[in-house]
Amino acid sequence: MCGIVGYVGPKPAFGYLLEGLFRLEYRGYDSAGVALQYEKTIGIRKKTGRVSQLAEICKQNPIPGSCGIGHTRWATHGEPSDLNSHPHTGGNGEVVLVHNGVIENYSLLRDRLRALGYVFLSATDTEVAAHLVAYQLQVAVDAGTNPLDAKTCVQAVEAAAAQIKGTYGLAVLFRDVPGLLVATRLGSPLVVGIGRGEHFLASDASPLVGNTDQIVYLKDHETAVITADSFVLHHHDGTAPAVSIQALVQTSRDTELGEFEHHMLKEIFEQPQTIENALRGRLDDEEATAKFGGLNLDPQTLRAIDRIVLTGCGTSWHAGLVGEYLIEGFARIPVEVEYASELRYRNPPMSDRTMIFAITQSGETADTLAAMRECKRKGHPTLAICNTVGSSIAREADGGIYLHAGPEVGVASTKAFTSQVTVLTLLSLLLGRMRHLSYPEGTKIIGQLRAMPDTIRQTLKCFDQVKQVARKYYTAENFLYLGRLFNFPVALEGALKLKEISYIHAEGYPAAEMKHGPIALIEKDTPSVFIAPRCEIYPKVMSNLEEVKARRGPVIAIACEGDTKIAELADDVIYVPEVEEYLQPLVTSIPLQLLAYQIAILRGCNVDRPRNLAKSVTVE
Ligand code: AGP
Ligand code: GLU
Repeated sequence: MCGIVGYVGPKPAFGYLLEGLFRLEYRGYDSAGVALQYEKTIGIRKKTGRVSQLAEICKQNPIPGSCGIGHTRWATHGEPSDLNSHPHTGGNGEVVLVHNGVIENYSLLRDRLRALGYVFLSATDTEVAAHLVAYQLQVAVDAGTNPLDAKTCVQAVEAAAAQIKGTYGLAVLFRDVPGLLVATRLGSPLVVGIGRGEHFLASDASPLVGNTDQIVYLKDHETAVITADSFVLHHHDGTAPAVSIQALVQTSRDTELGEFEHHMLKEIFEQPQTIENALRGRLDDEEATAKFGGLNLDPQTLRAIDRIVLTGCGTSWHAGLVGEYLIEGFARIPVEVEYASELRYRNPPMSDRTMIFAITQSGETADTLAAMRECKRKGHPTLAICNTVGSSIAREADGGIYLHAGPEVGVASTKAFTSQVTVLTLLSLLLGRMRHLSYPEGTKIIGQLRAMPDTIRQTLKCFDQVKQVARKYYTAENFLYLGRLFNFPVALEGALKLKEISYIHAEGYPAAEMKHGPIALIEKDTPSVFIAPRCEIYPKVMSNLEEVKARRGPVIAIACEGDTKIAELADDVIYVPEVEEYLQPLVTSIPLQLLAYQIAILRGCNVDRPRNLAKSVTVE
């Protein structure tokens, strides 16, 4: 986790560094800091809290320099504090660096460096890297054979990197070699932007938007050696990989708030459009199926698949659960949904006809990346359902499907979820049509999918109803979310949304499971949100609802327009348009996103930057 930025060029670096940190703040906001090189010195400013607080101290005490690095932290080792903030200094200030990742063997390395006389000021694992680079530099220069130049600096960084166990994206400045920025990575993303007589560095492409449209993604074990007018790649094995320049297509408007107060709300209201984007060009009316450009698998391989594993974390895992119901229902292929963090270590038996899908908005989630690599190593076709073009997972997968939802900035995932579910519906249609699904069934599904953007537009009209409900319940300290079949994953997702941004304890359950334990929690101050649109087992869901009412638990129901029966039982009803059962998650998740948003606002929480969280979790 965390965001890294860097700049070398003719201009004062501070402007780009600060703006870049603002754009990367969604990756971590425990603290922020910058380091700039000028006149054979490196000035550092760092501060606990938000980037705006850093901006404030830099305004009072600016630093010049046209070569610099910056960092926005999501703490893994050492509490959020000024001292633990990045950048960190190595040796006697000759090395200054920022780090994204976790140094697992930091304690061993710290003991060794302490024995060599290095003094540690922070509780972070990162400071070890700073001293280690300084030490390697010292060793090289002391040997007398190496001048203190860019080459020696690169060697020092790589020698230090070779001793680190864990993950790192590092950006390093050297006090005595002005105008040089060295960056290297293992497991944490870094991208270089190429400008005219200037170069940019960032954890993802967002800070580069508006600065350059030429970018280079670093691969693991590569080192970028950057000055104002040169950029070369060096591999840790001593080779010089070719630089592959890609075009950056994102525009800065994609991440602006516009008329909305928060990114989360903006992203919720973007869903008619993002669902349409996920469908665009993928509906094949002639064959009554779906088509994807990037699966990179021939029809024979797709037909031979005997099992699918869907893996991801958090919301993406919830989308996977909906995918399980869809694919098993339409294609009759057994599906397993695995938490990526478990799959990477669990080693379940999988035949060579098992296909893996890594589901991820960011494409950078460390657990998902590791699980995908593990499956790839074993020879399974490994694909990604991913939003972020050019992300690590998108690049490493054998093929995949992009969501085309545009950047998702709010930490709580909303539009990515509905896009993931849309893409999984298309996938189940494709696989189904290769197996049991008839032509008329395929045509019917296509027609229903085409209508979804409009249906979501209708659904969003429930916002005012949601606001009223939120006002009634926002002080509750516990919530239950209950749904069955396709709406069970929606219950989990609704509970996660509420927890994440309002800090209310919420649990999602299959509605019928409630009587096997969670029913003990029901009392007058614990609302239950029943996701109860009309479906085959609607009467059963009603019985579960009655069970809650019998114990005086307040009930908020998400129900189909025109369902008057439920209004007699539930305390409050939020109405949504009626759709086929398999499409219900797209519709029923919307009022739950809005409910979480509205409750968080009423409780005065920061919805876009909830405490302790970060948008993309690039550490284990
Ligand atoms: C969602 O609201 C969460 N913030 C989180 O659970 C997220 O879905 C998870 O970290 C996975 O992220 P990814 O989709 O970018 O891989
Ligand atoms: N492990 C480092 C720290 O806790 C870096 C965390 C990050 O990636 O932000 O400071």
